[in-house]
Amino acid sequence: MNTRRLGSLEVSALGLGCMGMSSFYGSADEGEAIATIQRALEIGVNFLDTAQLYGPMTNESLIGEAIKGHRDEYVIATKFARRIGPDTVAGDMSTLGPVDGSAEYVRSSVEGSLKRLGTDYIDLYYQHRVDPNVPIEETIDAMAELVQQGKVRHIGLSEAAPETIRRAHAVHPITALQSEYSLWSRDVEVEILPTCRELGIGFVPYSPLGRGFLSGRFTSPDELDEGDFRRSGPRFTGENLDANLKLAAKLAEIANEKGITPAQLAIAWVLAKGDDLVPIPGTKRRTYLEQNAAAVDIMLTPEEIARIEAELPQAAGERYNEVGMAAINL
Ligand SMILES: NC(=O)c1ccc[n+]([C@@H]2O[C@H](COP(=O)([O-])OP(=O)(O)OC[C@H]3O[C@@H](n4cnc5c(N)ncnc54)[C@H](OP(=O)(O)O)[C@@H]3O)[C@@H](O)[C@H]2O)c1
Repeated sequence: MNTRRLGSLEVSALGLGCMGMSSFYGSADEGEAIATIQRALEIGVNFLDTAQLYGPMTNESLIGEAIKGHRDEYVIATKFARRIGPDTVAGDMSTLGPVDGSAEYVRSSVEGSLKRLGTDYIDLYYQHRVDPNVPIEETIDAMAELVQQGKVRHIGLSEAAPETIRRAHAVHPITALQSEYSLWSRDVEVEILPTCRELGIGFVPYSPLGRGFLSGRFTSPDELDEGDFRRSGPRFTGENLDANLKLAAKLAEIANEKGITPAQLAIAWVLAKGDDLVPIPGTKRRTYLEQNAAAVDIMLTPEEIARIEAELPQAAGERYNEVGMAAINL
């Protein structure tokens, strides 16, 4: 597998999103999840994406378990945002506190992540959501201290607004911005991606498969587990779902003509948008991991890219519900 650069950090051209192994996307088989993380390294995918939020906390512990004996061969990205306090119970989202970007919380939260991951350094530490009540300078200053202490090697932001990115980067170099980017979520092309490029910040597109929808796997929310976060997602329900099924069908038609899967086409499209992008498709299983990794060898011509973009309808519906939308682009 080729590598790419996110600012000064070198990683495999494709990462592995580990969120669904522990949260948001229904049940998962722990043994298969661990095998997937280990298989990733064997096929050259060394860039793992997790967060304190995933579980909460259980996903970091799962990764700690899976990487034992091979820590230095992986590049591990994790994130903090919502306060984990003395009453927070691993695996119980309702026990998490609000987003906290204070220097005091940055200093304490990293210790928990290091412990759960079983490591003494984090390669890339992101603020998962900007705290509107704390100046970004305070948060980044505290994250920079972690770099000086050797606990963190690079720092990043997720779903931050252009002005916040600029202010943050003025305090300490930001290595990567992680935000949603895929064929059905292209709003970052307007201002966010150009801002990252101007400042030399790498970009990590999350949910490059449109949370799985672009793979053509889902036709109804009823196919998803009871606790699956997507069951009530604006794009997975009602009239939006009907419109989005046409988008998935179109993608499948073009993929079919090329003799690849729709998921591979969706990943190849993101990869083709620039060498400074490292998508992190999520999966809980080795079969999808291997299919997705093969997408790095699929080259799309400029004509194919233009056709895909022209023929695919816009996604219907917001990316998140009202609460989720209020927490992004801050
Ligand atoms: N910063 C943020 O706010 C944020 C938000 C969301 C996600 N993320 C990160 O980004 C990562 C990726 O995003 P995501 O997991 O939300 O969405 P995604 O990568 O767009 O899609 C994941 C879904 O696609 C399915 N899938 C994967 N490969 C497939 C294939 N080849 N064929 C058919 N289906 C396939 C997965 O199935 P299975 O699970 O059944 O394998 C899962 O349901 C996450 O794991 C997480 O680390 C970050």
